[in-house]
Amino acid sequence: MNQADPNANSKNILVLGAGELGMPVLRNLARRAKTVAGAKISVLLRNSAVESSEPAKQQDIAEIRSLGIEIVLGDLVNSSIDELALVFARYDTVIGCVGYAAGINTPMKLARAALQSGIPRYFPWQFGVDFDVIGRGGPQDIFDAQLDVRELLRSQNQMEWVIISTGMFMSYLFEPEFGVVDLQKDVVHALGSLDTAVTLTTPDDIGALTAEVMFAQPRIRNEIVYLAGDTVTYGEVADKLEAGLNRSFTRSIWTVQYLLDELARDSQNMMSKYRAAFAQGRGMAWDKSGTFNQIHGIPVTDVSSWINANLASRSSNDGL
Ligand SMILES: NC(=O)c1ccc[n+]([C@@H]2O[C@H](COP(=O)([O-])OP(=O)(O)OC[C@H]3O[C@@H](n4cnc5c(N)ncnc54)[C@H](OP(=O)(O)O)[C@@H]3O)[C@@H](O)[C@H]2O)c1
Repeated sequence: MNQADPNANSKNILVLGAGELGMPVLRNLARRAKTVAGAKISVLLRNSAVESSEPAKQQDIAEIRSLGIEIVLGDLVNSSIDELALVFARYDTVIGCVGYAAGINTPMKLARAALQSGIPRYFPWQFGVDFDVIGRGGPQDIFDAQLDVRELLRSQNQMEWVIISTGMFMSYLFEPEFGVVDLQKDVVHALGSLDTAVTLTTPDDIGALTAEVMFAQPRIRNEIVYLAGDTVTYGEVADKLEAGLNRSFTRSIWTVQYLLDELARDSQNMMSKYRAAFAQGRGMAWDKSGTFNQIHGIPVTDVSSWINANLASRSSNDGL
């Protein structure tokens, strides 16, 4: 990729990881790469994933192969920065889709390996909230680690970077473990207040939009690109559940103080860290207008359609 040419683009792309986020990113990059002369997609996977006898994994591997994506074996935890840099150097763009699945230190390790490799373009795994606005020292320490990566990327001008801010994965809001939406008791536990807002995007939409960002011309560089499937308050989540499922929901409020006290009782609890950080509301939501998807008129799934597609059909099948 000739960095001096603003229309030059990523051609030889390595995706790290093929999980909930990595699979839609791979599908969409492979689809979009067909329209870009010479573009090629590879994915780095652990040998254990490729050899897995688990049906879901086997299905993903078969899909990756059928998409014409090259599989590169590697381990982001067991390899050194030097070893990873040698692998990354074979590509012009690396995009991280592993996040913290491989530990809290991985994002910085990968950013260092990317810099050392000399690749011209890097998409760190930062598919989440607005860490700059949240700032340091909050209840979720992994957000501080993301700021460390931003600082490193901004401190240099040899490698271009693109950060894609997506808000929370939409499905995550409805995860029973997260505790916000209780579909058994029909309760919405608002984080902070009923008026606290959150931006949500589905991994499928993130995948499709990431492919558009990757191949946009002129090339996007050293920029944070904001996406939003929807931006809603927790009160609106309750309204939308009632409208979509045709039954009433109790609204309960978990205040910031209540959630900080919960966290103090179990200071390493990941869910408690997330809940307290989201309750503070800072950097968790942005207007849909001005997002990459809105500016380019790309349709995305909003909360009402997500409920309709994923919960309404289920409750009618269950006879609920
Ligand atoms: N913004 C949000 O709301 C939100 C919501 C959910 C998750 N997340 C974050 O997003 C990140 C990615 O999420 P995800 O759901 O796609 O994760 P995931 O489904 O667990 O996928 C992680 C991928 O990374 C691979 N991986 C793990 N350790 C590895 C290693 N040492 N070397 C190479 N590959 C490795 C896994 O491969 P194997 O098959 O080998 O394990 C898998 O392909 C996570 O860190 C999660 O915290 C954010």
